[in-house]
Amino acid sequence: MAMLQFHKKLERNITLLAVATLITVAIGGIVEIAPLFYIDQTIERVQGVRPLTPLEQAGRDVYVREGCYTCHSQMIRPFRDEVERYGHYSLAAESMYDHPFQWGSERTGPDLARVGGRYSDEWHAQHLTDPRSVVPESIMPKYGFLADRDLDSAGYGANLAALSDVGVPYSKEDIAKADSDIQVQARADSDAADLERRYPDAKARDYDGNPNRVTEMDALVAYLQQLGTHVDFRKVQPQEEDQR
Ligand code: HEC
Repeated sequence: MAMLQFHKKLERNITLLAVATLITVAIGGIVEIAPLFYIDQTIERVQGVRPLTPLEQAGRDVYVREGCYTCHSQMIRPFRDEVERYGHYSLAAESMYDHPFQWGSERTGPDLARVGGRYSDEWHAQHLTDPRSVVPESIMPKYGFLADRDLDSAGYGANLAALSDVGVPYSKEDIAKADSDIQVQARADSDAADLERRYPDAKARDYDGNPNRVTEMDALVAYLQQLGTHVDFRKVQPQEEDQR
């Protein structure tokens, strides 16, 4: 009864009602906004995660341009069926340098978050050129034209500079050397020591099977081959679910 009396007062006093409404909305707002102040602590830093090399990043640009994300997700959810099919569930830190992230919401084709290293470069080049030649029932479109297009890498440092503006830790040296890093990583015969010093585990080789040119196919295959490979899950055990 006392509660009803109080409500009567509240509903008839416009000032009191406004103040009470404000307090209620403020509580809701704080609950939603406060966690964002701690987001840096919330995303666990994981060893091995590094920014993409310029070649891989250029491959990612091709991936986005061609709309691969309309059929492929890059996010393995922590469910048994997904983990058994695709590998360790995705960690937040693994996409911390992805702008915009490629988690996706559509899986016409399989998830690609850990496709890196699963197939050979030849397989990828062949599959992208003619998916049905390796997977007869595939409905994936052909992307063979990528092997005929030279990668437009001039001034690629500007792209890295833009990414560094939004928090990707590219150094001044990385930005200055972007164009030459692309050439170095896409050729099998180059000295990649400097590239590997700045991008641990980066692999320099001829990705598209054509050593004479650096093509969009080189970049896309380089991008695919590093997906999900940065974190060594034999060393990193983020949560106890991992006792398989
Ligand atoms: C119309 C939907 C569609 C689009 C667009 C598409 N794919 Fe696919 N993709 C598929 C399907 C379906 C499969 C499974 C059959 C196969 O392997 O070809 C697949 C398979 C793959 C696989 C093998 C994955 C695995 O684990 O076996 C890779 C890699 C891949 N796609 C990359 C790409 C890339 C890169 C692009 C953009 C250039 C792309 N796809 C665009 C539908 C698509």
